Amino acid sequence: MTDQRREDRVLRVRDVFEGWAESGRGQGMAESHIPFVRPVFEQLPLPRDGSYLDIGCGNGYTVRWAAEAAPEGRAVGIDVSPRMITLARERSTAYPNAEYHVASFPDGHPLEPGGFDVIYSMEVFYYLPDLGEGLAEVRRLLRPGGVFACQVDFYEENAASHSWPEDVGLEMTLLSEAGWREAFEAAGLEVTDQFRVRLQADEASDSWKATEGSLVTMGRRPE
Ligand SMILES: C[S@@+](CC[C@H](N)C(=O)[O-])C[C@H]1O[C@@H](n2cnc3c(N)ncnc32)[C@H](O)[C@@H]1O
Repeated sequence: MTDQRREDRVLRVRDVFEGWAESGRGQGMAESHIPFVRPVFEQLPLPRDGSYLDIGCGNGYTVRWAAEAAPEGRAVGIDVSPRMITLARERSTAYPNAEYHVASFPDGHPLEPGGFDVIYSMEVFYYLPDLGEGLAEVRRLLRPGGVFACQVDFYEENAASHSWPEDVGLEMTLLSEAGWREAFEAAGLEVTDQFRVRLQADEASDSWKATEGSLVTMGRRPE
């Protein structure tokens, strides 16, 4: 893929999420993700003085959880959409250790390598023009032994998600569970767990949320 095509792809993603943030859909998106994300966040090994990064943080809800869980640490959110970062900052004024950057991942962010204990991302990595480069950058940003949890609802086994690129008008990388594990390993991240988070049928607004669920792949940067 040429550099121009990559840049165009990221700009299209930014424009879509700028629109969502402006129309209020950013908040609805966060609310629909939280029941899937909270049980994953609770498993993350974040010490009280730890460093946490959310890539594609949207309105910043996990950054605020991390700022509370690691009051002596650092909780960082990055997002390519300036309006999403504005929303995140507006909601985070009570969290002095929360910080946000408008930044495109994997290139174009201001973060130092090797510093993060935990990196998390929900519904972002399939938008990246080059998934391998994104995962390699995650490895570079983690401290040795640090953990990455990558959560996606768009994946091969979830047939209900396959129309999303057309529905949203954006290119997305469709991988199976095995494909995600292979991509982690190829980037030098040791896969430590992979599981689905499902909602109860009576809490699920769409049936796939109770049947297939949200896919989580967890990896670790080797020591
Ligand atoms: C589906 S939303 C998910 C937001 C948030 N993680 C949540 O759970 O509500 C995807 C977010 O990722 C951001 N994003 C997509 N590609 C990105 C990239 N290459 N760099 C930084 N942010 C990106 C978008 O702007 C958007 O806010």
